[in-house]
Amino acid sequence: MPGTCVIGLQWGDEAKGKLVDLLTSDYEIVVRFLGGANAGHTVVVGDQTYKLHHIPSGILNPRVINVVSPGVVINPPTILKEIDGLIERGIEVGENLMLSARAHIVCPWHITEDRLMDGKQLESESIGTTLRGIGPCYRDKVGRSYAIRLGDMYRDDFRERIEQIVAVKKRLLAGLNGRGENDYGLDAAVIHDEYQGFAGRLQRYVTDTTSYLLDAVEADRRILFEGAQGSLLDVDHGTFPFVTSSNSSGVGVSAGSGVPARWIDRVLGVAKAYTTRVGGGPFPTELHNETGQRIRDLGKEYGTTTGRPRRCGWFDAVAVRYAARLSGVDALSLMMMDVLSHLPEINICTAYDLDGQRTTNFPGHAEDLRRVKPIYETWPGWETDVSHLRRLADLPIRARQYLDRVSELVARPIEVVSVGPDREQSIFVK
Ligand code: IMP
Repeated sequence: MPGTCVIGLQWGDEAKGKLVDLLTSDYEIVVRFLGGANAGHTVVVGDQTYKLHHIPSGILNPRVINVVSPGVVINPPTILKEIDGLIERGIEVGENLMLSARAHIVCPWHITEDRLMDGKQLESESIGTTLRGIGPCYRDKVGRSYAIRLGDMYRDDFRERIEQIVAVKKRLLAGLNGRGENDYGLDAAVIHDEYQGFAGRLQRYVTDTTSYLLDAVEADRRILFEGAQGSLLDVDHGTFPFVTSSNSSGVGVSAGSGVPARWIDRVLGVAKAYTTRVGGGPFPTELHNETGQRIRDLGKEYGTTTGRPRRCGWFDAVAVRYAARLSGVDALSLMMMDVLSHLPEINICTAYDLDGQRTTNFPGHAEDLRRVKPIYETWPGWETDVSHLRRLADLPIRARQYLDRVSELVARPIEVVSVGPDREQSIFVK
């Protein structure tokens, strides 16, 4: 069976890019199957840091084919910038990148809609989206009438399609915001010309990735599916409505890539040794104190895509266990262990108190999750720098005890421990 997935088990930013980069040498193809430029995957190789948004982290390995499949929403100018940036730094981007003609494209009106709607959706708290037009683009995909796919840019009616959609979007935006239809800078002719330029530059990469991947699995080629965001941001199974607009847990791999589940035999779940979240929504173990700020500073917890400070808190075993079960995880990769090295005491949330009842179930409603009180177990910190260690046996006993406890609570073995951003700073347990 050729398929392995790497899936985030928290609210995104679990350092999946590093793990994918570590694993790619064992795979021929790396597939990105959801999300878009809301994601920011950081990969550090030696003294070079790469920040990828759409393109799979496999692009840094010259032997790997990188596929952006139908479940992704592609922002043409952003992906072109990404491609140019890689080429400028000497990374080859040519036949090793394939973009699905079925993938939907993010258009300027999506970004405007995202800006207008994010603050308005809920009276109490906004979702705090990345403002990359992701939700509006997926909404149009599911709504079908006003959607544009990458392959549509090469068809004769592309201009007409833009004109029709722009006419509707101008009315919609005016209705949403009470301003005039021409106040949003949407000019169909300008957008068409600009996007035709993008289409020309992207054409060499656009193809039928679904057939390519089906042929690949039938030929037993080894494929790595690179998750984006995290399981708790899954639109169906996450902390709705404080989620992204696609299936970002393991259950989304087949739908987004077009590869049936029968070809996927291994799922690696990625979690940080603590928890972070960007944007709004409940976060039971969040720390609003100095320790939270310490974790933010030590872990450089600022968004790759938006630069926003990430909310930080203790490891939540209830949430990660739920995510690991949902995503069908076989083994865990625990990231950023080095960040905890500087803390005298470390808490792990082992259960929730929901209205006086102890539970280890992850509530399905955001308002219930908002009410839970985390039940903590307190562990002494190891207070020793671990970033130079490469073997499990060399870790301080307290760090190993922490790993054992996390593994026990999540009911999955830990296979990789990351002790720093570099490829080298990794401990393979097996
Ligand atoms: P959207 O995906 O831009 O619509 O944002 C919806 C929610 O998902 C917001 O809370 C974002 O902060 C969060 N989100 C989206 N992409 C990522 C990511 O790659 N990492 C972490 N959070 C993300």
